Amino acid sequence: MQNKDAGLVEKISALKKKRNAVILVHNYQLGEVQDIADFVGDSLELSQNAAKTGADVIVFCGVHFMAETASIICPDKVVLLPDINAGCLMANMITPDRLRAKKEEHPQAVVVCYINSSAAVKAESDICCTSANAIEIVEGLAAREILFIPDQYLGHYVSARTGKKMILWPGFCPTHVRIKPERIKELRQEYPQAKVIVHPECTPEVIALADEVASTSGMCQYARRDEVREMVVGTEMGIIHRLRKENPGKRFIPVSEQVICPNMKLITLEKVLWSLEEMSPEVKVPEEIRLKAIAPVDKMLKIGAKR
Ligand code: 13P
Ligand code: SF4
Repeated sequence: MQNKDAGLVEKISALKKKRNAVILVHNYQLGEVQDIADFVGDSLELSQNAAKTGADVIVFCGVHFMAETASIICPDKVVLLPDINAGCLMANMITPDRLRAKKEEHPQAVVVCYINSSAAVKAESDICCTSANAIEIVEGLAAREILFIPDQYLGHYVSARTGKKMILWPGFCPTHVRIKPERIKELRQEYPQAKVIVHPECTPEVIALADEVASTSGMCQYARRDEVREMVVGTEMGIIHRLRKENPGKRFIPVSEQVICPNMKLITLEKVLWSLEEMSPEVKVPEEIRLKAIAPVDKMLKIGAKR
């Protein structure tokens, strides 16, 4: 750790105690931000942690929809997002108005909403899911018609795994579509012993070449297995920090150092300190939206995840 960081970390830690705050950090965050976390995890684990924390303040080091989900679950807590511009480009690919119009075309459809969406979109949905539990959630539905929003590739993967046909919203993650099948084939040649693991936001062509498909924390669990010595990692670069830290002696090969989510990188130690000092920027979902969005989120949390 650099001296500058050591000073910041000390100040954050003191202020965190004073505010009775908890720091929740997504697996894609900068290494130095992951290192100050009370908990590092995937979207599902972070919402589960928000639900059970006794803290008064949640400092959410991730993107806007994650902080909103914490606000939906914990209306009495202050949820801080150290950079308010940290959005999710996929979440912006759907709006409540466009979703309402689609629902009118399919009045019988159950709407399964990937957690990477705004609170207002969740409020128009029937049940949420994350990459860790999407298969179980869809498998558990009796509906004849399912509208899956907003990630077409996660939807495609879930449909293939469950055998259920779904109407797919045409959204996607601009970071994960940078992962190309040709690159996976090259890496297989270069590292013939390595296991290839990819995130379900990747395209079907990439998923077809993988040994395993998992959420970000699912990848961390997979990496701990004894038989995994080398792993090609098909997701955002930030996770490499955690994988290497938890598994010294194993080799982790990112598919490309260009696979970066710029919004995830907006959170820095300086901004975490500043947000705790100022108690800002706060993410607070308006109560009329929260009251509608809580039902689909709660349904998902009750189901949890089987990995
Ligand atoms: P996870 O829930 O797997 O961490 O994924 C979140 C995300 O935004 C992936 O791009
Ligand atoms: Fe959204 Fe993609 Fe960034 Fe995940 S990696 S937060 S889906 S833009």
